[in-house]
Amino acid sequence: MTDRQPHPRILVFAGSSRAGSHNKALARQAAEGIERMGGRPTFIDLRDHPMPLYDGDLEADRGLPENALVLRRGLAEHDGLLIASPEYNGFITPLLKNTLDWLSRPHEGESGLTLFEGKLAGVVSASPGGLGGIRSLALARQLLTNLGVTVLPDQLAVAHAAKAFDEQGRLRDDQQQQKLDALCRRLVDTLHRLRS
Ligand SMILES: Cc1cc2nc3c(=O)[nH]c(=O)nc-3n(C[C@H](O)[C@H](O)[C@H](O)COP(=O)(O)O)c2cc1C
Repeated sequence: MTDRQPHPRILVFAGSSRAGSHNKALARQAAEGIERMGGRPTFIDLRDHPMPLYDGDLEADRGLPENALVLRRGLAEHDGLLIASPEYNGFITPLLKNTLDWLSRPHEGESGLTLFEGKLAGVVSASPGGLGGIRSLALARQLLTNLGVTVLPDQLAVAHAAKAFDEQGRLRDDQQQQKLDALCRRLVDTLHRLRS
């Protein structure tokens, strides 16, 4: 299957900037899974792309921040997205929302939503709590849908995340690993099908 078409390119990131982020660990595992399934993942750390909190006056005065332009160009080169979404008070994080808000802004006469057109996404989450951040997944899904992204029905919420990863950052639980692999496979295979 992978020989018929170029490997689907998938941008992978977590909605957390902190060094020890469980969601970054999960995103890295997803990137490895995508690669195993024949996709081409690009893992990015949002800590490397800091942006100010969205402010309409700032945008009017100075346009999009340089890092928003970098991410815009990056996303444009990818067919899909894999987002690991931490949960803050039952919501997605301000970092994830702010990043997507800047990316959704028009640029050089092009609607911001054009960037998201035709993209396919998978969403996963990890939390030290017992629900694994599952409430943030519904909101991440809704936000991406509002942007025009098609979101896979598959998802994974890793509970008790402080104990869920081994020293190499891999998921200890085989069932969770299989679920993540299945999601990655579905993302890669669906992108292949959409393009054929
Ligand atoms: C402001 C705030 C609110 C939080 N609310 C929730 C919550 O509603 N549900 C949950 O499972 N964890 C919650 N947490 C704990 C996060 O899941 C935890 O900090 C997690 O490690 C964040 O993801 P990260 O490891 O990828 O940075 C909250 C943390 C913060 C800082």
